[in-house]
Amino acid sequence: MNRLDGKTALITGAARGIGAETARLMAEAGARIAIGDVLDEPGRKTARAIEDHGGEALYIHLDVGREEEWTAAISAVTGRFGGLDILVNNAGIFLGRGLEEATLGDWRRLCAVNLTGVFLGTKAALPALRTSGQRSPHGSVIINLSSVAGVVGSSNDPLYSMTKGGVALFTKSAALEFARKGYRIRVNSIHPGTTQSDMGDQVLAIRARNLDTNDLEPARRQALARIPMGRMGTTTDIAKGIVFLASDDAAFMTGTGLVVDGGITAQ
Ligand SMILES: NC(=O)c1ccc[n+]([C@@H]2O[C@H](COP(=O)([O-])OP(=O)(O)OC[C@H]3O[C@@H](n4cnc5c(N)ncnc54)[C@H](O)[C@@H]3O)[C@@H](O)[C@H]2O)c1
Repeated sequence: MNRLDGKTALITGAARGIGAETARLMAEAGARIAIGDVLDEPGRKTARAIEDHGGEALYIHLDVGREEEWTAAISAVTGRFGGLDILVNNAGIFLGRGLEEATLGDWRRLCAVNLTGVFLGTKAALPALRTSGQRSPHGSVIINLSSVAGVVGSSNDPLYSMTKGGVALFTKSAALEFARKGYRIRVNSIHPGTTQSDMGDQVLAIRARNLDTNDLEPARRQALARIPMGRMGTTTDIAKGIVFLASDDAAFMTGTGLVVDGGITAQ
């Protein structure tokens, strides 16, 4: 018996990075996987890799900021797999600009993915999650990707931090609303520290720029100096936390945040 046997998960932004690794580990744990992303070829490749290892996976083109694409995505998942048990709102973008450089256009782009995407996903998936929540002993699950920048301030990216702080409190509010209504849907957030991925590389490039260099090494040293455990996170470190929150092992957890950051926010 695997931890996610018989479950269906929709993971946004799972063409690569943390989302792709979550898709792989959830498939290994027995779940059927739907990947929603805007990067169609990498998304199909991630789905094929899961199928090549004996899992079931579906790629769906999904821009999380567009309501009509969410409607179509939920229909595609429930049509193919017969329901939906787990939603991972993972798609996210990083800005890397201070307040003096950031524009209203930057803010709107960031919001469309990091905030609107989480709101629309939760709303669109709600009917299917409610239905499956009634069938499962411990209900159905939403996991939202926040960040350490949603727990403490970010000196490099205040707008990103504002969106991730919003995700953390939206998570708590949605958990409370669903519990009050008896919906049997647990909602939790996860807060990665600096993690090796395309976004992790962008973060290092921004640090390097702020140090007035194109060399990533001083930026890497600066990033590592902040991490008590002395290394960056891997996508596997974060995906394992997501699988835990999705599983019945987290049956009594709702409205909370799991920090996976090598100790950054303990200081
Ligand atoms: N990498 C880090 O250091 C780090 C730290 C804290 C939190 N996070 C969060 O973890 C999540 C995953 O980050 P990652 O490191 O894997 O980043 P990544 O850039 O490697 O992957 C993000 C994925 O989201 C997809 N995406 C972007 N806009 C989208 C949209 N409109 N609709 C659908 N998909 C879209 C991208 O195509 C990509 O596949 C994000 O929410 C990010 O903010 C990352």
